[in-house]
Amino acid sequence: MRTLLIILGLAATTIFARPNESPANASAAAASTYWYANVLHNGINPGLSKNWVVFRNVRDHGARGDGVTDDTIAIRTALAIGDNSIAARGSGWWGTTGQPAVVYFPPGTYVVSSTIQNLIGTVWMGDPTDRPRLKASKDFSGTTMIAGADKYLNGPVGFYTEMKNLVFDSTAVSASANLTLVDWNVSQGCQLSNSGLEMPKGAKGHVGIRAVGKNSPLLLNDLEVRGGGAGYVGESMQYHFKNVYFKGVETGIKPANVVQMTVQGCRFEDVTTGVDMSGGTLRLLNMIDSTASNTETLVKADEKQSGTVGSIVLENVLVDSTVSSTVKAGDSSLLTGSIATGTTWIRGNIYTGRSPSSKPEKLTGQKISTSRPSALVNGTGFYHTVKPPAYADFSLEQIVNVRDVAAHPVKGDGETDDTASLQAILNDAAKAGKVAYFPHGTYILKDTLHIPPNSRLWGESFTELSGAGPLFQDPRKSKPVIQVGRPGDTGVAQFTDFVFTARDILPGAVLVEVNMAGAKPGDVGFFNTHIRLGGALDNKANECPTVEECRAVHIAAHLTSSSSSYWENSWAWTADHDLDGWDGFAAYPSPAGGFLIEAQKGTWMLGWGVEHFALYQVNIVNAANVFVGIQQGEASLYQGVGNSLLAPRPWESELLAGEPSFAWCAANDASCRMSIYQSVVNSTNINLYSGGYWTFAEGSNQTACNGDCQTNAVFYVRNSKLFSYGIAAINNANVVVERAPGGSEYVPVAKRADNQGFRKDGSDVAVVAAYLRQSG
Ligand SMILES: *[C@@H]1O[C@H](CO)[C@@H](O)[C@H](O)[C@H]1NC(C)=O
Ligand SMILES: *[C@@H]1O[C@H](CO)[C@@H](O)[C@H](O)[C@H]1NC(C)=O
Ligand SMILES: *[C@@H]1O[C@H](CO)[C@@H](O)[C@H](O)[C@H]1NC(C)=O
Ligand SMILES: *[C@@H]1O[C@H](CO)[C@@H](O)[C@H](O)[C@H]1NC(C)=O
Ligand SMILES: *[C@@H]1O[C@H](CO)[C@@H](O)[C@H](O)[C@H]1NC(C)=O
Ligand SMILES: *[C@@H]1O[C@H](CO)[C@@H](O)[C@H](O)[C@H]1NC(C)=O
Repeated sequence: MRTLLIILGLAATTIFARPNESPANASAAAASTYWYANVLHNGINPGLSKNWVVFRNVRDHGARGDGVTDDTIAIRTALAIGDNSIAARGSGWWGTTGQPAVVYFPPGTYVVSSTIQNLIGTVWMGDPTDRPRLKASKDFSGTTMIAGADKYLNGPVGFYTEMKNLVFDSTAVSASANLTLVDWNVSQGCQLSNSGLEMPKGAKGHVGIRAVGKNSPLLLNDLEVRGGGAGYVGESMQYHFKNVYFKGVETGIKPANVVQMTVQGCRFEDVTTGVDMSGGTLRLLNMIDSTASNTETLVKADEKQSGTVGSIVLENVLVDSTVSSTVKAGDSSLLTGSIATGTTWIRGNIYTGRSPSSKPEKLTGQKISTSRPSALVNGTGFYHTVKPPAYADFSLEQIVNVRDVAAHPVKGDGETDDTASLQAILNDAAKAGKVAYFPHGTYILKDTLHIPPNSRLWGESFTELSGAGPLFQDPRKSKPVIQVGRPGDTGVAQFTDFVFTARDILPGAVLVEVNMAGAKPGDVGFFNTHIRLGGALDNKANECPTVEECRAVHIAAHLTSSSSSYWENSWAWTADHDLDGWDGFAAYPSPAGGFLIEAQKGTWMLGWGVEHFALYQVNIVNAANVFVGIQQGEASLYQGVGNSLLAPRPWESELLAGEPSFAWCAANDASCRMSIYQSVVNSTNINLYSGGYWTFAEGSNQTACNGDCQTNAVFYVRNSKLFSYGIAAINNANVVVERAPGGSEYVPVAKRADNQGFRKDGSDVAVVAAYLRQSG
């Protein structure tokens, strides 16, 4: 296995991909007026293949899009072209970063007659100005139209694929058939957005999105589901549904075996059941800012409330008189009518000031008074959300391809330092108000890249911005690789479809530092933009001899006090396996922290995952006005019993202000000295929904564990106006702890043993419906 990696590594340094300079076919280009269809496509694949074509317009591969011709073969061809050595990998591979592709659909109706299999690293993208339709033919053969998960990859390692601006349509297929429009058995780093799922009305066997099997995804956003039996059916660990419109579908959301979901900004209309969580199929539902009309039952709850099965939190859920029941369990209606802002309806275990003992109060469906900070909501009390930008109103002249500026040559080849040229291009683009398009590649940054106000950066199949070199290596002087604005700046800085990473071991790096505040929510925005440390063949974090030496960066993201930013579908991953080979590496990377948030003015985190950092996944300290729609996390995999590198090692000498010292743990307590999932300290106006904290194993051998493997999941210390709804944890003895000022002792408040009641995939899961002890 290592041999193969070395060969691939050599290839990366000796064979440079030549840019494919050929413009898109003139005939097809004429079919789409959207700038992205017509811009010069010279993306490269620096790692693995020299003759790689990133951009594929389906019209160039024979698709007609005329609503009559069968375009199945043409679409398959567009997916498969290129040097497909990667596709020949066997079933033992855990992914690849080596086949980045965008399959682009101009406006039209593309008839599909049998299943189309997707490949990892591929983006399916339609023209957002006139969304193309992928239509199953009347005689469609098979039970899945688009197999969205790469067939070589299990659900839990299906990362980095995307579908946007498309309409999937089964209305021509018999309503009595069984057909899934998109099988989406994928995990973090994937996006399905701004798309329609259209099925015949009353077709019980038609399903929009199916995610059956183990998978750990984050977000489904800005979708419309029409007709059919169900919008979503699946067994995901967690999901955040944002702005999904369900119209005329029998069941909107039908979990089969899911731990938790946030349903935000969704509308249910002419629906039999909005969310069906009867029979223990979903353990925690946070439904917020959602509306329903002509709907029989908005939430079908668990019939019997045993343990913490079926916890429900409703907030700002508005139903009209045509909705028979807002929450129903079996035959009995638990709630009719709306739950307005200012009130939260809770079924499940809660911790309040009124119950200072360590036992939860079990609510069976009661309203309590709560609040939301005005900085996070609009004039009618809904949390602000925005649609990911497409810049559809920009003309081709308003785009700059960063690899097509003669005065400032940029390589994106994973070798050359592109910082100075990119800085010049971004400064000019900001002055001219242009979108900076980064064709796929790995852009090496050996110094800080400063993002000025009025910046719009557009990536392509997860364009990599990668820190490298000596300037980021002093652990005592942390320095940003990507710096978004300077303290006090206000304006626009948006990123779409990027991966921020580090080629070298950079213990002095803050990978992204956000100082800028958006003038309005989303102006400073990160959309389908992820962080990866290690995990790819060009990352030195894959080759560390020991965990101590693998301090990939200090912090992945620092949202400083002057910042105000919006993050939607973002996964910060300290890689626990190598995507470009068969096996793991000698040692896990040990970056100190995922997100350090000190922001005051308004921060929105939607569809958010942060995994495997050494000291904390998320640290919210001296902050205000933070909304979290969902936060998923996994522990640092080498930690726990059987490991001798106890937190705060290997960072004990270089902790930054606000980083945890673990002084409350006994010196040799390996279960206590594990990375904190979420810490909120000395903060105010913090509204948190759906935390999912998964500790599956312990020790450097990753021995599967059950029970109290990790001592503490979440810390809440000295906050006011903190509302935390829906905390789920696997194998954490204390789900929530409070800590005395001074830090030498902590007080467990919510214990696993008092909040469990079911198992998921062999693990005990504890669920706390609400923690409100610091909400005053
Ligand atoms: C243009 O389309 C033709 C016909 O489909 C195809 O053979 C050719 O390779 C395409 N050219 C480019 C530059 O993609
Ligand atoms: C989804 O992934 C899981 C877990 O790897 C696998 O067992 C299952 O077969 C997949 N399901 C489907 C429907 O492809
Ligand atoms: C559809 O699936 C259901 C449930 O698995 C099955 O009972 C039914 O026979 C299937 N219908 C068709 C047309 O295959
Ligand atoms: C707030 O957002 C909701 C949901 O998008 C919308 O219906 C409402 O009109 C907005 N209120 C204001 C005042 O903009
Ligand atoms: C707590 O937060 C306030 C307001 O943000 C700040 O002024 C104060 O210094 C913080 N206190 C500590 C101990 O960090
Ligand atoms: C881990 O596994 C190796 C190889 O099986 C073994 O030698 C070692 O003792 C194990 N370490 C621990 C801490 O269990």
